[in-house]
Amino acid sequence: IMKKHPIILDVDTGFDDAFAVLFAAMNQEVELLGITCVDGNTNVHQVVKNTLKVLDAAGAGEIPVSKGATKPLVEEPLYAEHIHGADGMGDLELPESSRNIDRREATELLRDLVESRPNEITLVPVAPLTNIANFITKYPASAKKLKEICLMGGSASVGNATAMAEFNIWHDPEAADIVFKSGIPITMYGLDVFYLPIITEAEAQRLTNSNEKSAQFAGKLLLSSMRRLKQNVTLGDYGAVAAVLRPSLLRTEVFDVGVETAHGLVRGMTVVDRRPRLEL
Ligand code: RIB
Ligand code: CA
Repeated sequence: IMKKHPIILDVDTGFDDAFAVLFAAMNQEVELLGITCVDGNTNVHQVVKNTLKVLDAAGAGEIPVSKGATKPLVEEPLYAEHIHGADGMGDLELPESSRNIDRREATELLRDLVESRPNEITLVPVAPLTNIANFITKYPASAKKLKEICLMGGSASVGNATAMAEFNIWHDPEAADIVFKSGIPITMYGLDVFYLPIITEAEAQRLTNSNEKSAQFAGKLLLSSMRRLKQNVTLGDYGAVAAVLRPSLLRTEVFDVGVETAHGLVRGMTVVDRRPRLEL
């Protein structure tokens, strides 16, 4: 019997978040328990709409999707529509979904799901960490019952939003600081690996020509992004889900990671302490 991985996704869908949702919803090894949405690439209302449309494209069953934070903990939001399109997801003009949004706010959905499967669930945030920080602050006892967090965010080298900061951390550094200090085991799927799973135009075209609705959707999304960015594109956030299923494909090392919250040149940087550990 195949072991399924119980996962909750937290997204700001988002061109590449769409691949994380598609993959998690369709992969036989994943038990996708729920999806929480957060303000990030675009505003959270649009993020919810986009996420429901991706679930339609995936032909997914009923999966609770809930709305979370409408802005970062401290600062006003800055969106990335130049990367992700005016609607945050490639402007494909997809029909609105008829799925219902879960009535619970994101932190409440997280609490209920984690309490229903204590110490089993991997939380996979691929977006700014506002919802996760709110969950840890509001329901600390429940948050401790997560098995682990495997997040897309940060970098052990250079950034993308700024020279040193990756977008998800830079968008809400105060939230990231709470999450990294929480004591929950964290795997950081950072920019160092994020850009590696590259898709070419020929591959995207092949998907678009498929008879499968989900593959057509993926192909169109990739082509639209290639046209906007004028280059081959990465599957991005999807990799954080893949890392949960196939950890042995990635080389991981244990480091202390701090988040810079000061308002200077490196706000939002993940400071990875690579000094050798001295056993004194
Ligand atoms: O920096 C990359 C991250 O920012 C990804 O999660 C992408 O979707 C954007 O939100
Ligand atoms: Ca994202």
